[in-house]
Amino acid sequence: MSEKREAVIVAYGRSACCKARKGSLAGTNPIEYSAEVLQGVLGKVLALDPSLIEDVILGCAMPVNEMDYNAARMIARRAGLPNSVPGQTINRFCSSALQAVATAANAILAGQMDCVVAGGTECMTRCFRPCPEEYIDKKLQEMDEGLYISMGETAERVADRYGVTREAMDRMAYESHKKALAAQAAGKLDPSIVPIHNAEGMLLTKDEGIRADISMESLAGLRTCFRENGRVTAATSSQTTDASAFAVLMSADMAKVLGLKPVAKFISFAAAGCEAEVMGLGPIYAVPKALKKAGLTLDDMDVIELNEAFAAQALVCIDQLGMDPAKVNPYGGAMALGHPMGATGVVLLGKALDYLKDNDKKYALVTMCIGGGMGAAGVFERID
Ligand SMILES: CC(C)(COP(=O)(O)OP(=O)(O)OC[C@H]1O[C@@H](n2cnc3c(N)ncnc32)[C@H](O)[C@@H]1OP(=O)(O)O)[C@@H](O)C(=O)NCCC(=O)NCCS
Repeated sequence: MSEKREAVIVAYGRSACCKARKGSLAGTNPIEYSAEVLQGVLGKVLALDPSLIEDVILGCAMPVNEMDYNAARMIARRAGLPNSVPGQTINRFCSSALQAVATAANAILAGQMDCVVAGGTECMTRCFRPCPEEYIDKKLQEMDEGLYISMGETAERVADRYGVTREAMDRMAYESHKKALAAQAAGKLDPSIVPIHNAEGMLLTKDEGIRADISMESLAGLRTCFRENGRVTAATSSQTTDASAFAVLMSADMAKVLGLKPVAKFISFAAAGCEAEVMGLGPIYAVPKALKKAGLTLDDMDVIELNEAFAAQALVCIDQLGMDPAKVNPYGGAMALGHPMGATGVVLLGKALDYLKDNDKKYALVTMCIGGGMGAAGVFERID
């Protein structure tokens, strides 16, 4: 047995990212599709007896409607996990699934557990909505208005503050689609995708948001969606998406005993707060913390998955952190593939690990901004 405990990932996978309201999962209960994804991911590690799973940690940014009632437990049972397997649903908005992975890894590193399933689900078709007026705490709104404004308005404020142009945002959206299109055509997105059925019996294997017909002209012609005279359009925003994603984490010792080959090692995680009205800047605060804990630098990272919540904030984060744009989102980002908020952390982690494997590289950084004014970042090392 190794002296220092290590938390490793032995399997991961996700559903195809489906367009909210207009896409293939719009008529399917998220408990159902998440359970099928979970079964598919566990199917990659048949040596793991499901009764050995000590917790299912599920991220969900809007745990309402079908996602009420502790969705983690509901999904675990729907997937056929034994009654003995508990489940918890956690929420750190857009980083919820990455947080779930970090919480699972920390439990393993602390010696509290040996095997944990971590992931996330979002059903933006039915759960995504602004905060209803009657739920607003007026005093808090007075204190910090940014906590209640739309995410699109936070992007407009980032664009104002940093002078991000419409053209620069359109260019990023264009490139995101082009990269995603190339990755999809080359089959690079497939290893992460667990084929599942929707309620209509259709088998879903492809992400739905990528536009083959994108052009700078069509982007320039789009109207803005959050301010009349603003800069942010539907194309320069992450798409609303229905999806689910899971990873199986265990101690390196347990993987060895079960004869499972780990794919990656958890290295570090950090979350950090910032001004809510410019929440998109969150990675600027979280990334240095996570890298410092890892004892690594941005130069050491072979790939960076930085969630494209909006082009405005992603551009500023890349610039302010001094990231090499060539390392960021090589398989496209959320403007093309979508951003199923609570699931995104594991969607991005899977993309990063797939990229490392495809290119025989070592380190990945996964980071995102978070509504309410936060950022999260995680560092992972490929070891397969
Ligand atoms: C921006 C947003 C409101 C747009 O929603 P929507 O109106 O349903 O989006 P659509 O996909 O229908 O796009 C609107 C229009 O732009 C067009 N469009 C969108 N992306 C395009 C692209 N890349 N190229 C060309 N046209 C595009 C669509 O075809 C559509 O045109 P139509 O009205 O003629 O049909 C929604 O995606 C959103 O809220 N995103 C942000 C989600 C969020 O806040 N997440 C959390 C982040 S922290």
